[in-house]
Amino acid sequence: MKLLIVYYSTYGNVYRMAQLVAEGAREIQGVEPVICRVPELIPPQVVDSRPDMKAASDLQRDVPLVTKDSFREAGAIAFGTPTRFGNVSAQLKNQIDQLSELWLQGVLEGKPAGVFTSTGSLHGGQETTILTLMAPLLHLGFILVGVPYSTPELFTTQGGGSPYGPGHVAGPDNRRAIDPQEAAICRALGRRLGEIGLQLQGK
Ligand SMILES: Cc1cc2nc3c(=O)[nH]c(=O)nc-3n(C[C@H](O)[C@H](O)[C@H](O)COP(=O)(O)O)c2cc1C
Repeated sequence: MKLLIVYYSTYGNVYRMAQLVAEGAREIQGVEPVICRVPELIPPQVVDSRPDMKAASDLQRDVPLVTKDSFREAGAIAFGTPTRFGNVSAQLKNQIDQLSELWLQGVLEGKPAGVFTSTGSLHGGQETTILTLMAPLLHLGFILVGVPYSTPELFTTQGGGSPYGPGHVAGPDNRRAIDPQEAAICRALGRRLGEIGLQLQGK
């Protein structure tokens, strides 16, 4: 079963979270993680003029852009976004707003989906971002998946992560590394989406 990890990342943190979600998914036999990004909306001349954005863009150059078939083929989907004013990034929302054909066909109904995010600050809106993105996911028919408290790092994290989904605190310069607790919660989402996706397919 393919587990699609579709994300947007300006500075590279959400991309690194996507890789950790994939690591967790790989722990489940029969699950193949597929990482895809969504198109950038920031003008190329702006990205090129900012060394931090340019470095992250170069880092992700070989990640394929998501397609409608990526969504069709996936048995489970993880959505990753940086927090933007307490909400999902325009780039990821732009992609979700192009899913109306699949919505009309009911293609996504019954697939499990989870959300992960990175914020600049500790209380900058991880939960609001995740819960807000879950509204359109419900419209599309997804079965929402979080990270329950059987994941012990939920009790010990000093950074991001909650039962709503994995979170990371990037800091004011976006350079704070993903810490071990945050990483464990990312992997837990990948495992859980993989397990539930297989169960829903009767495997
Ligand atoms: C326009 C804009 C709005 C942002 N809004 C928030 C916010 O509401 N709360 C917060 O903690 N960080 C906010 N940030 C910081 C980002 O969430 C942070 O840069 C993100 O974690 C980086 O993820 P990335 O490295 O994958 O791009 C904002 C950044 C930008 C550019």
